[in-house]
Formats: sequence, structure tokens, C-alpha cells
Amino acid sequence: MSETPAIDPARLGAIWADVVEQLKTVVRRHRVTQDELHVAGDFLNRLGQSGMGRSLIDVALAMTSVDALDVAGGGTRPNLEGPYHAVHPERPDGVLFERPPAEAAPRLALSGVVREAATGAPVPGARLDFWQADENGIYDRTGTHLRGVVHADAAGRYRIATVLPSDYSEHDHDPIGELFRAMGRHNTRAAHIHLKVSTGGRVRLTTQIFMPTSTFLETDYVEGAVSPDLTLDLAETSGSTPAARRYAAEFDVVLGVGAP
Ligand code: DHB
Ligand code: FE
Repeated sequence: MSETPAIDPARLGAIWADVVEQLKTVVRRHRVTQDELHVAGDFLNRLGQSGMGRSLIDVALAMTSVDALDVAGGGTRPNLEGPYHAVHPERPDGVLFERPPAEAAPRLALSGVVREAATGAPVPGARLDFWQADENGIYDRTGTHLRGVVHADAAGRYRIATVLPSDYSEHDHDPIGELFRAMGRHNTRAAHIHLKVSTGGRVRLTTQIFMPTSTFLETDYVEGAVSPDLTLDLAETSGSTPAARRYAAEFDVVLGVGAP
């Protein structure tokens, strides 16, 4: 996003006024000094230069937006989109990787059925858009490795082949890591796969699916993101050879009646 996108001017003005008013409360409550305000301003400059503004906003506020809009509508719990959604290629075979995963990278076969919450009926042709970090917790931010779109079949079933993502901790060397370290906190996200589901050209659900292999499920630095209903039940499908482990999991997607 290079410019301020079109937000209704009156709405923007009202939100800005409220933001400043709320922040004044913080300044008064903590008797924040002008020097400290400048520390914050300099931090924001560094944050912007590093391209991590979206991440910090998401970490602090996106789950609150998800919960405030409360669009689950009886379906799968929505979750934050996060900063790294992009336009992704179609993957007719469901394979999300574009280069062979490392020998030791655990593979994941993920499948499930897309249903309507209102009727329980499967949704043939539903569009599922996936993106995720790799086995080292790194997102491809310039290409489309581990990103792709699949469509549910006539029975509403989808299937992808991918690698099991690792916990995400890409902020160790940017201002977000600096801020969290300064507070004595970690800056790691529990391993997850992002998913956006559309029907008839309309986005019906944006969520994340969490990996039970993560050791950060209880302490994901996006507070409130992880929940048991969004955490996979993994079955190990191959033997115990030291080569790449293979996992399979089922995750059904239920599309609620709420407005997206
Ligand atoms: C951040 C990264 C993610 O992949 C995500 O889903 C949410 C937040 C981040 O950069 O903080
Ligand atoms: Fe993410």
C-alpha cells in the first residue's frame, strides 16, 4: 500500500480524533514526558523505514478488530489477515511449494470440506487462498512459494500439499523485535497457515490454522489469536525414519452467515 486508501473522510476524521483523545489519556495516566514522546516518534520513523508498520498495527490491534466485527456468524472462527497477504497463483494440484522442500522439512497434507453454516451443505467450487511461512518460519515476501489458490471439488472437498510451517519470528532484527526485547517479551508467532475463503467472488472468511507442534500456542505474541478450534489435529502418516516426517490433517471450513 503506497498511499492512504479511500476511507470515508468523515469516518477517518472521527477515528483520528478518537485515536488522539485515547492517546492523550495514556500520556496523562503515565505522565509521559516529551523526551519519551520523541523516543516513540523516533521508533515510528525506524519502524516505517523497516516496512514493519503493518506488522505492529496487526500485532497490537487486528484481533480486536476481528472480535469487534464479530463476523463468524456460526462458522469457523475468523482470525487476523496479518501483513503478508498477496495475489497468489492457482494450484490445480494443490501443491503449494515451488521448489522441493529441504530433505528434513516435515510435509503436511491438509484437506477438509467447506460447508455453509446455515444449511450444513458442502460448497463445491469454494475458493481457498492459502499462504504460510516455511519450515524455518520464513514467508516468501517477493515470490509465491508456499502460497496458492485451490478450489473445492464437487463434494466441497479441498486438498493441499505443503510443508509444516515453523514458528514465525522474523522481527529479531527490526524495530518490532527491539520494542519487544525492551519490554522483556518475545516476538514469536505460533506456527500457522493463513486461509481466505471466497464464494461467488466474495470473501467469506479470513482465518489462520495453527500447528499443534508449536511451542508458542500459549504465548503467541498476537494475543488472542490462537484457539483450540483453529489448531490442527496432526496424524503422522509415515514411519519414523529420520528423513522428512509426513503429517496429514483434516480441517473443515464452515462459512458463517455474518457479513465479511
Ligand atoms: C505478523 C506476521 C504474521 O504472519 C501474522 O500472521 C501476524 C503478524 C507480524 O509480522 O507481526
Ligand atoms: Fe502469518
